[in-house]
Amino acid sequence: MRSVIDVLDLSEQELDELIATALDIIANPAKYAEACHGKKLATLFFEPSTRTRLSFEAAMYELGGNVLGFSEANSSSAAKGESVADTAKTVSCYADIIAMRHPKEGAAYIAAQAASVPVINAGDGGHCHPTQTLADLLTIYREKGTFENLTIGLCGDLKFGRTVHSLINAMSRYAGLKLVLISPQELKVPSYVKQKLKDEHIPYEQTTNLEAVMPKLDVLYMTRVQRERFFNEEDYLRLKDSYVLTLDKLANAKEDLVIMHPLPRVNEISVAVDNDPRACYFKQVLNGKYMRMALMLKLLKEAGKINEY
Ligand code: NCD
Repeated sequence: MRSVIDVLDLSEQELDELIATALDIIANPAKYAEACHGKKLATLFFEPSTRTRLSFEAAMYELGGNVLGFSEANSSSAAKGESVADTAKTVSCYADIIAMRHPKEGAAYIAAQAASVPVINAGDGGHCHPTQTLADLLTIYREKGTFENLTIGLCGDLKFGRTVHSLINAMSRYAGLKLVLISPQELKVPSYVKQKLKDEHIPYEQTTNLEAVMPKLDVLYMTRVQRERFFNEEDYLRLKDSYVLTLDKLANAKEDLVIMHPLPRVNEISVAVDNDPRACYFKQVLNGKYMRMALMLKLLKEAGKINEY
């Protein structure tokens, strides 16, 4: 059974196909309105979410299917001590596809091993978040028209930010990529991510100074400091406002810079930036729904649960 745990579970060609499907959905929504008629998505969210869960649910409704699930661990049998594997086996009896978010790294993988329907990782601890990356890729593609020769600045909590890890994995496949990793010393990318950059000979620089690198960026990907993954509150309070993007700080940015953020925003981007035409974070939200539609169509088709779309 094909599941998507990491964005690298999808080949470059498959990513291209998903983008093509998403663009076709945007152009011809009526064509897809009954594509998943009678099918059920289960959203198993053991961790808070607004965008990811509602985006999956809206995506399934727009494909003519139905949704069941829970939005907090406390309202599921996890509160009684049920294992992720048993939950996944149980839900496979009710649903055709599962989207799961969990605070533990590797939980989606365990669920996928146990489930008899496709499992999509909707975020596993500080590890991966492949469908956010699909939203990010469609946004970069629609704004830039290419994935090649881009200088991408990733700013904020690069240690615990799972969206950053998945985006690095996806972008590392494209030619001419340069990464600028902007974070406090304590929140640098984990060593396994850095090792991948070295192994794949991807040029990158690490800095603490956002303003200094601003002029060279084609994309600036801001992130929230991940409070829930800190071991103590003092460290969080000390680091939480390390970077706040304001209009002043954009003074010497490129005219066609693409400003992204997976959201939720806490304080990382001043609301005054929202009106700047370079702000793309709410477009990212919408793009996420289309890419989740495309991904569910693909996985349900491969599982033999729907016909050609
Ligand atoms: C992200 C996540 O959950 O990792 N949110 C999202 O899904 N768009 C980012 C975050 O919570 O900071």
